[in-house]
Amino acid sequence: MKDTLLIKGGNPLRGKVRVSGAKNAGLVIMAASIMAEGETILDNLPRIRDVEVMIQILNEIGAETKWNDDQSLSIMVDPSQIKTSTCYELSKQLRASNLFLGAMLGGRGEAIVSMPGGCDIGSRPMDLHLKGMQALGAKTKIEHGYIYARVDKPSGARVYLDFPSVGATENIIMMAAKTPGLSTIENAAKEPEIVDLANYLNSMGARIRGAGTDVIKIEGAQKLTAGRYAIIPDRIEAGTYMISAAITGGEVLVENVIPTHLHPIIAKLQETGAIVEEQDAGILVKSGPYIQPVDIKTLPYPGFPTDMQSQMMALLSMGRGSSIIVENVFENRFQIVDELKRMGANIKVEGHTAVVEGVGRLCGARVKATDLRAGAALVLGALAAIGETEIENAIHIFRGYENLCEKLISLGADVR
Ligand code: EPZ
Repeated sequence: MKDTLLIKGGNPLRGKVRVSGAKNAGLVIMAASIMAEGETILDNLPRIRDVEVMIQILNEIGAETKWNDDQSLSIMVDPSQIKTSTCYELSKQLRASNLFLGAMLGGRGEAIVSMPGGCDIGSRPMDLHLKGMQALGAKTKIEHGYIYARVDKPSGARVYLDFPSVGATENIIMMAAKTPGLSTIENAAKEPEIVDLANYLNSMGARIRGAGTDVIKIEGAQKLTAGRYAIIPDRIEAGTYMISAAITGGEVLVENVIPTHLHPIIAKLQETGAIVEEQDAGILVKSGPYIQPVDIKTLPYPGFPTDMQSQMMALLSMGRGSSIIVENVFENRFQIVDELKRMGANIKVEGHTAVVEGVGRLCGARVKATDLRAGAALVLGALAAIGETEIENAIHIFRGYENLCEKLISLGADVR
């Protein structure tokens, strides 16, 4: 029962909540840290389960890690001591373990990384990652669930990504950062977490230009030297708390955000009738008189983020009228539907499209989290539902939300 959340719905959430560091920036920067000689110190890294697993993988491959008193994480690396393979037991728990591919190839010229387990939101292929590695000179093969890669003559190259994959862009940036010559990534992912990775690597002596646009140029550097770096705030955690105000009829100030990262979420939330104000201290969200139906298409950044799709579905279920949600990024990201229907939602799924008929109120029920963001969406539904909701497999939610219960309780939620 330890990873079951009990939530008694109906309390309007009020107060302020501070957003933690971005999971998807922290994880890739932790992988990149093995490319630099010396001690990397990361500030604003969230203490979430995925970060803890990443720490175990870093220790296992030969880095030394330590949480400091000021809550920063130190990662001591002697690149010559870093193993070039990640173990299955640990890497199967974390999709982001595949980010060691680019870091190891760039740093050591070889890598054995386990194929990431497909998770509930899709098959999660690696074809674009491998296309990039091969373009920069790597020979790769997949055997027994592992990717074997080694590069004897690395040289900069031009890579076109058929889809602006976040992970593939990150792996190619890391490998190219220490591959002699100029590399160019075209149709690159533009997510803020890509920009954070490039800023971190450049702070260590890499030469990366254009991160955040769809053409990124990387001039290989001989050596990278570790230093101190602060992770950007988590735009998806921020968006989740913004919806918690709108869905419970409350008023919440979400602090420690970068507003530009939230514009797609702010725009959509305002269309549902919520009042959203950018203030110096953060984003103030007040619920409107009622939740209006809106249509949503998830797209790569700066489109509406797929990681906020389930949360919006929970909100729209509480509204009135028909909303159409099209999931364009992952092929199978509607697991939340069956669980929300157990709470009284009225949702029909046809392929990549879900039609949500708002039912006004959800009712508490026993539900289970299938993945991180679906879990977060169930929390939002439970906060607004009539009665008590029991969310099983809540461990998924703790993977990506630091101090979730404490933050919700501080806003007046009844959570155990
Ligand atoms: C990152 O996953 C994030 N994870 C995901 O967040 C996020 O949903 C996703 O980017 C999209 O924004 C981390 O950063 C650790 P992709 P990633 O490669 O890199 C297809 C969360 O909840 N694809 O951009 O795996 C793929 O199948 C997680 O925090 C290929 O076809 O996402 C998918 O349909 C969930 N071939 C689409 O691209 C490839 O080689 C987007 O995947 C790679 C990807």
